[in-house]
Amino acid sequence: MSIKYKSIIHLDSVGSTNSYLAAHASLLSHASVVSTYNQTSGRGQRGNSWESEPHKNLSFSLLLRPQHIIARQQFFISEAVSIAIVNTLRRHISNHKVSIKWPNDIYVDDSKICGILIENTLSGCNIAQSIVGIGLNINQQYFLSDAPNPISLIHCISAETPLDKILNEVTDEIISTFDHYDSTQQFDTLHETYISMLWRGEGFHHYSTPDGTQFMARISNVAPDGILSLTDTQGHTSTFAFKEVSAIL
Ligand code: BTN
Repeated sequence: MSIKYKSIIHLDSVGSTNSYLAAHASLLSHASVVSTYNQTSGRGQRGNSWESEPHKNLSFSLLLRPQHIIARQQFFISEAVSIAIVNTLRRHISNHKVSIKWPNDIYVDDSKICGILIENTLSGCNIAQSIVGIGLNINQQYFLSDAPNPISLIHCISAETPLDKILNEVTDEIISTFDHYDSTQQFDTLHETYISMLWRGEGFHHYSTPDGTQFMARISNVAPDGILSLTDTQGHTSTFAFKEVSAIL
């Protein structure tokens, strides 16, 4: 499979592929990719930085111009991208569980192999553009930042993987997944697939809220808009937006 209209701009080095793509997006079309193997100021979620050793990992951003998704459906972008990355990694990793940690981290067992930073520009009810930034750990053996649980593909398969090969695979998979789910009916299937891939999708686990409260709960739902429902051991259900609750590792 190869996506005909994908274009990849490869930069020797850049501060952040998300920032670079945002600055040049007006000149670029749907499915343009900006990639580097030397990202010097990678940005993560919650204002964190993103560590990537030069020439070891994938750091890229993909420009989407969603025609078929309106602003209140923007979580579907997150779902489609997460599903595509899981499906790509499952073709390489057979002896570990690859899953999605709500809302959109990609995990191998209990460790994070991939982070996603999506920056949408809205125009009224529509999404004018979506910049999907992806940091995928491939050949980095040691991590220096205080990230709690990083892992790379090399730890799972005990072999180096050529970066160009996996970049092509994962970008093709993301674009084809995104373009495939193009109607409301198909969004239901997309959402069910997302739910089926959730990390800790079953059973009770420890969570904490920003005020320090800790509790045990199970995931009882993720709504199509991305809101997480957790049901505690007493049967009480609470809902959380991103940043309002964290899983305790
Ligand atoms: C996270 O914190 O989990 C999200 C990390 C996203 C990192 C990627 S690397 C490519 C793109 N450019 C950036 O500056 N960040 C994203």
